[in-house]
Amino acid sequence: MEKYKNYSINNVGEEVILNGWVSKVRNLGGLIFIDLRNRLGIIQVVVKPESAYYDLANSLKNEYVIKVTGRIVERENKNKNLATGDIEVDVNNLELINTSREIPFTISDDTNALEDTRLKYRYLDLRRESLKNNFVLRNNITFATRKFLNNLDFLEVETPILCKSTPEGARDYLVPSRVNKGKFYALPQSPQIFKQLLMVSGFERYYQIAKCFRDEDLRADRQPEFTQIDVEMSFVNEDEVMDLGEKLIANIFKEVKGIDIKLPLMRMKYDEAISKYGSDKPDLRFGMEISDITDCFINTEFTVFKNVIAEGGIINAIVVKDAADKYSRKDLDKLTDFVKTYKATGLAYIKFQSEINGSIVKVLSDKEINEIKEKLAVNNNDLVLIISGGYKIVKTALGALRCKLARDLQLISQDDYKLLWVVDFPSFEWSEEEGRYVACHHPFTAPKDEDVDKLLTDKAHCYSKAYDIVINGYEAGGGSIRIHDEKVQKIMFKALELTERDIQEKFGFFVEALKYGCPPHGGFALGLDRLTMLLAGTDNIRDVIAFPKTASATDLMCEAPSEVGQEQLDELGLAVKK
Ligand code: AMO
Repeated sequence: MEKYKNYSINNVGEEVILNGWVSKVRNLGGLIFIDLRNRLGIIQVVVKPESAYYDLANSLKNEYVIKVTGRIVERENKNKNLATGDIEVDVNNLELINTSREIPFTISDDTNALEDTRLKYRYLDLRRESLKNNFVLRNNITFATRKFLNNLDFLEVETPILCKSTPEGARDYLVPSRVNKGKFYALPQSPQIFKQLLMVSGFERYYQIAKCFRDEDLRADRQPEFTQIDVEMSFVNEDEVMDLGEKLIANIFKEVKGIDIKLPLMRMKYDEAISKYGSDKPDLRFGMEISDITDCFINTEFTVFKNVIAEGGIINAIVVKDAADKYSRKDLDKLTDFVKTYKATGLAYIKFQSEINGSIVKVLSDKEINEIKEKLAVNNNDLVLIISGGYKIVKTALGALRCKLARDLQLISQDDYKLLWVVDFPSFEWSEEEGRYVACHHPFTAPKDEDVDKLLTDKAHCYSKAYDIVINGYEAGGGSIRIHDEKVQKIMFKALELTERDIQEKFGFFVEALKYGCPPHGGFALGLDRLTMLLAGTDNIRDVIAFPKTASATDLMCEAPSEVGQEQLDELGLAVKK
């Protein structure tokens, strides 16, 4: 394995054998310099004019595969930008192992090739140093995870990929069965049911680096096929699961990045996260909290606010410190368009400069303006942005605006990591689409003990033993204590308006299992891809998945999904509707 050694000045004088790709060849009218690239990086190889391999070296082109035998020597002109920049290899033997066609884009970290081209030739894209490093990091994360959990007696168990619909709430990917025509397997959205069944089996501590599949709209942090670090434990409460979860994460941060995460992590109730940050995954790397200023307008003459209050709505604001002079009228119009995409009806602003001006200054009384100033502790040159309306819309729009402003004003330091648990999620959320309450997490999430009696009568005020781990505004993971009592599970199904038939069809086998001495249990799953993204410092999930899908869920390299032949369809008993 000598070729995988990282050579440095300490290896001067050593004879080495290197296999790799030609990254660059330069003929400086005498010496030929070859940049040889292998998994560890780039090392310079020198071929002198008197060398028997000079002509061969001269004929090399980018991405040819070569084998070099030579001696490590100290360089005259050192390259500080290269890990091996102090040394080079003086060639004794050069062998051309394979040639390469001209490649469709240059293999370089500052490539400007279109992402579509890079995805089509992903195997070439992966030759780029920065991309390759993400997979070294990903490997280090899974390795640290396995080490950590095995040391604590967790058992890694694989669960099926061909299974039945699982309850994570997205659309399923279906696989037709040839043997049982007209029937379908569903790919798992997560191993949720299986890991709970393993607790019934008495495995007590399970984990799996598990592939999950969800047919949902894709975003920069979402792929149809992704990986979870999935954990489940028996005889535990919320605190014990969160304690384990945060120790695992802290261990990963330390092992792969040398970063110390201070434990225990902060815990924030869901309601507080929404109220202050307009999101259940608050980014705490910057302030700009949302403040409720409804009280300042109790007797207002301004009809917009007056009507909002009369309809039970709220008036909330964020203060953008020392930014009043940074935002022109046009900029503020753009921000208004931005919040409208979150269904806000508008965005009011007040600039507190030597003069106070803004979109609503004329319609507010001096008293109201003074109250806002006091309540928000406004300083000179602060910009106050205000949205009024229904609770959810106001919070969500200001939450999104807060993050946008922080990005635009570059308030976020890239190597800062802010982790927290968001706890006490509601059990149910109102679905406008379905006109009823649906499960906020999955239907096996245990309600808070004090809320069990309210499950059927007061769904708006039931909270669950669920928790999410949030890192820099991303939901990096989530989990809950599960219902282990068949009676409570039945009430929960009823609350979710599942009929006996639905229950039997969807998870009859699971409900049956709860009858056979099911231990109390709970767990969580971390999104491995998201965790890797965060540690790699990228905001594109595709950068940490070797062969990812595009935003329209296609694989440009293997051209999947694709049509299948009539014979295959017949065999499966399927017909495609045109
Ligand atoms: P949940 O649905 O919250 O919980 O998923 C856990 C974590 O998986 C990641 N994740 C994704 N990553 C990339 N692309 C996606 N489409 C995607 N969807 C989810 C997120 C998320 O926090 N069975 C439960 C866990 C449990 O209760 O133990 C579950 O799957 O980082």
